[in-house]
Amino acid sequence: MRKRRNIVMKLAMIFTIIVMTAASFPFEASHIVRAEQSVLVEENFDRLDDRLPDGWKVIEGQAAVENGKLKLTSPSTASPARVLVPLPDESRDIVFEADMTFVSAVEDTRWASLMYRVQSEDYPYYQFAVRRGTTALNGVEFAERDAQNKWVVPEATFFTENFEYNKPYRLKVIISKNRVQQFINNKLVINSDQAMNMKNGDVGFQASGSTVLFDNVKVSTFDQDLPPVDNSGAFLPEEVKTNIINAPTLIGSSLSAAADANTASVLLDVERNAAGHLVTSGLPLSEALAKVKNKHIPILKIEQRGLEEEVVHTLNETQSTDVHIVSSNPDIVKAITTLMPTARGGIIYTKQSFNKHDLNQLVRTVHSSNAKVALIPQKILTVETVHYLHTRMVAVWGMGAGTENAAHELIHTGVDGMITNNPAASVEALAKYPKNTIVQRPIVAAHRGVPSMAPENTMAGYRLAYDLGADQIETDLQLTKDGHIIIMHDTTVDRTTNGKGAVRDLTLEEIRQLDAGSKFGEEFAGEKVPTFKEFLQEFKGKDVILLIELKDVDIEEQAIREIKEAGMVDQVVLQSFDLGSMVKSFELHPEIPVGYLYSAAVPGTQSAKIKNAQKMMDYGTNYNVTLNASYGSTYKEFIQYMRQRGMLTMHWTFREEAPFRDKLAEGLIGPITDYMQWLTDSPINLETPIKKVNLKPGKTSTIRAKAFVDYRTAKKENIPTELFVTENTDVVRVNGNTIEAVSPGTAQVFVKHTFSMLGQEWNVVGEPIEVHVKE
Ligand code: G3P
Ligand code: CA
Repeated sequence: MRKRRNIVMKLAMIFTIIVMTAASFPFEASHIVRAEQSVLVEENFDRLDDRLPDGWKVIEGQAAVENGKLKLTSPSTASPARVLVPLPDESRDIVFEADMTFVSAVEDTRWASLMYRVQSEDYPYYQFAVRRGTTALNGVEFAERDAQNKWVVPEATFFTENFEYNKPYRLKVIISKNRVQQFINNKLVINSDQAMNMKNGDVGFQASGSTVLFDNVKVSTFDQDLPPVDNSGAFLPEEVKTNIINAPTLIGSSLSAAADANTASVLLDVERNAAGHLVTSGLPLSEALAKVKNKHIPILKIEQRGLEEEVVHTLNETQSTDVHIVSSNPDIVKAITTLMPTARGGIIYTKQSFNKHDLNQLVRTVHSSNAKVALIPQKILTVETVHYLHTRMVAVWGMGAGTENAAHELIHTGVDGMITNNPAASVEALAKYPKNTIVQRPIVAAHRGVPSMAPENTMAGYRLAYDLGADQIETDLQLTKDGHIIIMHDTTVDRTTNGKGAVRDLTLEEIRQLDAGSKFGEEFAGEKVPTFKEFLQEFKGKDVILLIELKDVDIEEQAIREIKEAGMVDQVVLQSFDLGSMVKSFELHPEIPVGYLYSAAVPGTQSAKIKNAQKMMDYGTNYNVTLNASYGSTYKEFIQYMRQRGMLTMHWTFREEAPFRDKLAEGLIGPITDYMQWLTDSPINLETPIKKVNLKPGKTSTIRAKAFVDYRTAKKENIPTELFVTENTDVVRVNGNTIEAVSPGTAQVFVKHTFSMLGQEWNVVGEPIEVHVKE
């Protein structure tokens, strides 16, 4: 052992240098670590005549030096290749870096790694693993091979691009006590404090199901402490107290407005001043960003062209990645979100009214500008407009709420955010609602139709979903042997039809002969497997969106062509478990919204939850996809995080009442369910035709408040309601649905309707009625 170390000592060029390590990731750049370092290993394989450096050891599999590089070859996961590099002084904390190049990988999930703190020349050890498909949610890992020779993965994340074949990437690990930082091309990708189990050890290289080259290896000592992990700047700004479920987030329209009422976000009007600097409300932009950091989410409003690069520069410099860019000019939003793919986008609507064409155009503009939010003046917003945009995955921030009454009106449109110069009025308004009040209609997707009542993925099921008031109808696309798109969930027809075989092996003609109804019930005998074209035609022009899952591979182009041919671009949302398929769809037709289906574990601690929500938000924004996670992957902080940042999401698949109820109560907006019928009779809105009443004081001056309940279907009912007042007042008394004037003054009276849904009571509340009592 000693002898081996001496050889390595000779190989290593020992000298001392002063190194500045500045992490380039958002949350660390302020911490510049100065450390005295000794180089323990430095190796470029150039003069080795195809042999491994002295002391290096192949522990497993195939490894050799070829053409001045270390090459590891692993044909499969079961046969990894591992090389151990003994360190002359293994007790030290280190910086370990090397160039890594994928030559091949058996599939995109396969990986290569830098191993560190390797024990007993084998395992346990830590590693910095990088998959060929680095954009996967676990594309980059800080993993531990534990004492039982099993994987434990304390941290995983994604990199913003897949590693290209034959292109070197610089990997670097800093390990100091229990702190680990892992970098790709100098960008910090993992920042953890979970390196508790091994205190020191050797380093090494590994390949799993890949052929990979390493070069320019360097190991130096690291004698400083890394700064504590600071939750990566992930935060949930505090919201206003309210009983409204999924209440709109509050956005101050300026720095001073935001500060006054502690709003979640702040709108910063950015311009270039006479001296050529970026400013907002007279402050340099960088100063304003520093001021709001970890307090409010900054939303930069930019109307001037030519500021794009400088804005991105300032955002990078101030490590402000949790940011929105909004403009009435889509080109500005697109330019900035292209330069900085994790910056979110919003489009400001400037016309004075809406017709259907305007709405469709707005949806197309929002999506094709890499945005997810439309900012719309309150005076042209209605419940219907908000719903129209929501079902097309556009979140709505209303601009207005200048007074308390205006705030109530805006709340009732179901917006996701309220931008106001008078947040105090909204704070007051939001405080007045009773427990479990719903003001926003959830976007309910009927999963494969209504499989609890009709055969899945049949026209009978889809029509039923429509009749039951579905906002979206979910479905699965696959290709037949002769290249037609049909609708089927499984890859074979066995489960749902009277036939047998893989969809891929059957022609359209053969599939159309099958009966897709009788297995469910004789009354559905003769139902056919629908073609995609037939499905599109059926719902064209109807008030429903088709949530189309691309199940098959390489189906994007044809699916989009058929959507366009059917004139259905404005009525579809695409989704897939294959991120690449959604990225491709977005490239082909960026006006159509796309969603990424996935499921993931829920982290254990509050701070890990917020950090995970931030990671997912960045992931979705980076690829312009909505985050369509299984509902079990969501949690309160996730829902709030998305809410505050204008991302609507769809979640699958609700088949039981209890989680359905609990998730809606947490504010989940887009349930995908097999049981559309459970929500059909739930009211979605309460209208009060009167907004102002004048009454004379006295027992006889009473009015009955009229209210209408709107349901998902065409049903509307004039129903008796319960009235309530929120403030102590001697102006009026309320009893049932009767207002009684008592003494002169003004009072606010609310109308409430309580209903039961998914085994729980919920309220819909009307806009307040202003009662003036005068002699
Ligand atoms: O809508 C998403 C959901 O359908 C995903 O699961 O297997 O039912 O297609 P699956
Ligand atoms: Ca599906």
